[in-house]
Amino acid sequence: MCGLVGYVGWRDAAEVLLAGLRRLEYRGYDSAGVALADEESEIGLRVLKKAGNIDDGLEKLLKNGSSNGSHLGIGHTRWATHGEPNDRNAHPHTDCPDELALVHNGIIENHQSLRKWLSGLGHEFTSDVDTEVICHLMEHYLQDEGDLSQALARSCEHLEGAYAVAVVQSPLGANEREIVAARKDSLLVVGLGDDENFLASDVPAILPYTRRVMYLENGDFVRLTADDVTVFRSDGRRVDRPVTEVQWDPVQAQRDGYPHFMLKEIEEQPAAWESALRGRLSGGEVDLQGLQFPALEDIEHIYFVACGTSYHAGMAAAPLWERLLQIPASAEIGSEFRYRQPLLGEDTLVVFISQSGETADTLASLDLAIEENCPTICVTNVVGSSMARRADNVIYTQAGPEISVASTKTYTTQLLILFLLACHLGRQLPHGQQHSETCDRLLAAMPSLSDLERQLLNDTTEIGSAAERIADWEDSFFIGRGLDYVSALEGQLKLKEISYIHAEAYPAGELKHGTMALIEEGVPVVAISTQPQLRDKMASNVEEVRARGAWVVAVTDQPEGEVARRSDAVIPVPDSEPELSPLFVGTALQVLAYRAAVLRDCPIDKPRNLAKSVTVE
Ligand code: G6P
Repeated sequence: MCGLVGYVGWRDAAEVLLAGLRRLEYRGYDSAGVALADEESEIGLRVLKKAGNIDDGLEKLLKNGSSNGSHLGIGHTRWATHGEPNDRNAHPHTDCPDELALVHNGIIENHQSLRKWLSGLGHEFTSDVDTEVICHLMEHYLQDEGDLSQALARSCEHLEGAYAVAVVQSPLGANEREIVAARKDSLLVVGLGDDENFLASDVPAILPYTRRVMYLENGDFVRLTADDVTVFRSDGRRVDRPVTEVQWDPVQAQRDGYPHFMLKEIEEQPAAWESALRGRLSGGEVDLQGLQFPALEDIEHIYFVACGTSYHAGMAAAPLWERLLQIPASAEIGSEFRYRQPLLGEDTLVVFISQSGETADTLASLDLAIEENCPTICVTNVVGSSMARRADNVIYTQAGPEISVASTKTYTTQLLILFLLACHLGRQLPHGQQHSETCDRLLAAMPSLSDLERQLLNDTTEIGSAAERIADWEDSFFIGRGLDYVSALEGQLKLKEISYIHAEAYPAGELKHGTMALIEEGVPVVAISTQPQLRDKMASNVEEVRARGAWVVAVTDQPEGEVARRSDAVIPVPDSEPELSPLFVGTALQVLAYRAAVLRDCPIDKPRNLAKSVTVE
């Protein structure tokens, strides 16, 4: 969940690194730093690092220090996992005589035993972070090997855990201007330029300079000079990795004049849904371009495994899959799944859902499923991500880059893809035939969803008014039944993460078993009602909380219905197929959370304590 970037070539390295780090800041932002090889002076390596975000920290340092003249360097933006977020623990880290500098994403699990061993050999540690052991290992092996690549390969033999690591050496001691890097379970890409090369943990960092990228595999090492890139394995054997042309436009990753990425990404949803369906659904027929799904007749159980918002997408999908495929289906939290020793095997289909494709707990669950010979499908937004490359089948959400920490368009495109898959697979199964009408009905509705979404986003007056009411409170409740309960879960998560208002989601019928005790005069309750068979029950639940003084806003596709009539305010959502309602309710609740967060003056795109991509378990 940190970001790293490296540059070797003819440009001002400080500028390239700073620009790259800014584009990666969404991955972690409690400190940032660079190491620049200074060829002109006696200094050798200039390491500048500072706690705080880039604007307040690193950029000021770079302005004060002379950064010009360097054409080789590495940089890092950090989200603390070991040691406090302070200057000392910021990356890059160096060995004692500042002979080399190193940046690292991931966690070294055996850092304590390595630290003990290296201290015994006389190495002095200056920070609290796990990363520093790699510096001293490098120093140790550099003395033996004299070669940076070999020293890194030897060092990595000691490491347990996950890493993308990049190293530069002081030009005073080095023979060549080079960056050496390695990856295991953390993304690392090389960007290819003319007489210059780039390294980054994420493609957006290098997009302004090149679209030609090479994704490194687990266990790869790479050596970059200005005019050469060599990928090799730990035994020194050279390997070729394909070069891909990245389609994302650098401006796609900018805010386009919106005050926040989150709002931009919410408003991009109609286009994102069209993109997700493009080439996949036409005239009611689904074409998934050669994906080879397992024989569903042999499948006894389907698990959806994911974390955070993606988990809610799995929860929303599971009932539809179960119904249409007539196979029991359930959603599981990535960080829980592995430890409850689930029954897995060839008859268990596991669907992994992840915006980033890198979330550590989801990735580890995927590895477990692969070990147990389960057929696997991955739904992700990031091409070439670790999950995309490990799962048997991958289907991309095609939502475009999402920068804001809170997932919006990637959530609703996950929903759309999962609903599309359910209909597609349901229609193929002999015993799914009984639901073919439902599949046809849902597939027929999908092409017009984006226009309905545009209508929703065109008039958000009621959402704004409800947000004003909610923004004044420190507590709130979200209630719903069936699929609306899943939307309630996602709605409360959005509100919590960006507005810092405490929010709880409850199945509406469950409130009276304890949580009702918290309902007091004026407390806001968001009551969701889109499921026809549950409307009456929801109306009674609204009555229950109102009788205890709650202020209720109904989110419903029936603004004249009973639930709306019994509520204090109404947020209308388009009247579409009930199975697809989480798409619209999800959007309305994203806007609600966003508006409340604006009113409370919160740092919306980068909420405190949170990161976009959580690559530690
Ligand atoms: C983080 C993000 C969430 C996201 C979750 C799972 O916590 O802040 O928005 O839902 O990770 O991420 P993934 O990339 O696997 O969907």
